[in-house]
Amino acid sequence: MELRAVKGMNDILPDEAARWQRLEQAFREHVARYGYDEVRTPILEHTALFSRQIGETTDVVEKEMYSFARHGDELTVRPEGTAGAARAYVEHKVHTKEPVSRWSYLGPMFRGERPAKGRYRQFYQAGCELYGDAGPLADAEMIEMILSLLNRGLGIGNIEVRLNSLGASGTRARYRDALVAHFTPMKDKLSEDSQRRLEKNPLRILDSKDPRDREASKGAPSILELLDEADAAHFAGVRRHLDALDVRYIVDPTLVRGLDYYTRTLFEFVTTSGDLGAQSTVVGGGRYDNMIEGLGGPSVPAIGFAMGIERLLTLMPAEAPRERPAIYIAPLSDTCTSRALVLGRDLRARGVRVEVDGRGGRLKAMLRRADALGAKLCVILGDGELERGVASVKDLAGHKQDEVPLADAADVLAARARAEASPPPGEAR
Ligand code: HAM
Repeated sequence: MELRAVKGMNDILPDEAARWQRLEQAFREHVARYGYDEVRTPILEHTALFSRQIGETTDVVEKEMYSFARHGDELTVRPEGTAGAARAYVEHKVHTKEPVSRWSYLGPMFRGERPAKGRYRQFYQAGCELYGDAGPLADAEMIEMILSLLNRGLGIGNIEVRLNSLGASGTRARYRDALVAHFTPMKDKLSEDSQRRLEKNPLRILDSKDPRDREASKGAPSILELLDEADAAHFAGVRRHLDALDVRYIVDPTLVRGLDYYTRTLFEFVTTSGDLGAQSTVVGGGRYDNMIEGLGGPSVPAIGFAMGIERLLTLMPAEAPRERPAIYIAPLSDTCTSRALVLGRDLRARGVRVEVDGRGGRLKAMLRRADALGAKLCVILGDGELERGVASVKDLAGHKQDEVPLADAADVLAARARAEASPPPGEAR
């Protein structure tokens, strides 16, 4: 059998990696300005963490998790980052160390969904979680942070912000009853999945992509009418702060999102460019004020979001060419190879990107390789050069050649490489 990558899981080859790095760097720098520091949690967690926090009747838990038993533990490869981060927050009693914590993360997530453009089984998320601030300032600031990252940091336009509030858990229960009353008379017209959801989790019907469910959802009651006073005041506060920040948004009372842990504010960022087809949601998030307590911690409010890196990369403008070696070293004999290695090491220590050709062989082939890589300079080290204590340096763009003394070759060449270097990818916007 020919071995290929697992369906829905992608290789990211070096040619593409520069764009990934640019996005990751922009994300880290941007959220750091808002006070977020990176957390790294395990990719494997106990299955119960996800099934309890995300919700037994969600698609993620019912159909999509990669779960297995090993050494007596029921384990799951994380489908998202929020539950693991919250578990770590509780486990390390972080609330005793600081009243407010701002965490960011970036890494692979796994969901056994049907692969499509922008929908994979291993995909990457960058996200943030904020603990200990009940908002609404925190909610608005987070939404503004995401929008400015997409617009300014990544150069992505055509983004719509959708906003809703689910209220606290009491509101949810009342909304649940209102939805059951709305959908029950038309139960037969719902998809099979939604007929089951009607009993277990009617909110999820609003989230269904099935045209039958979409039709039945028209005219469903709006949760915003059921919010109690405190929830309504919170939502009004979020909107007021967003208005002050000039963030435009659409209030969408049918927005419920596919995970059950949310309370109050919910949001999604959707591209209107059409480039992602049905997978147009690039960021999702919201408040989940009950999770920390649900995990055995104190009552600490929380809000967060995650963005799909593959989806954002599809929308991010091209640019960010792959970084090229500034110097290519071509040793022409065995004796010259060690000297070439030493020069390579010394140049790298001076911050220069260098490749040493270890293949041996003809100069012509080495020069061709240096050209193909886009190197600025090719340093030629032959026996004649070594005897004279010099290195020949060919300027590949200018087609000039000269010699530099080997004794200070690293300093001289590093200075030349820097003078000739193209700007680093981050500055090439
Ligand atoms: P989510 O909406 O499930 O939320 O995922 C967030 C984003 O991850 C989506 O908007 C999408 O861009 C990307 N994504 C999800 N599934 C896939 C997939 N199969 N292939 C490619 N991209 C995908 C969460 O995961 C929550 N943990 C967000 C959150 C953080 N809420 C509070 N804190």
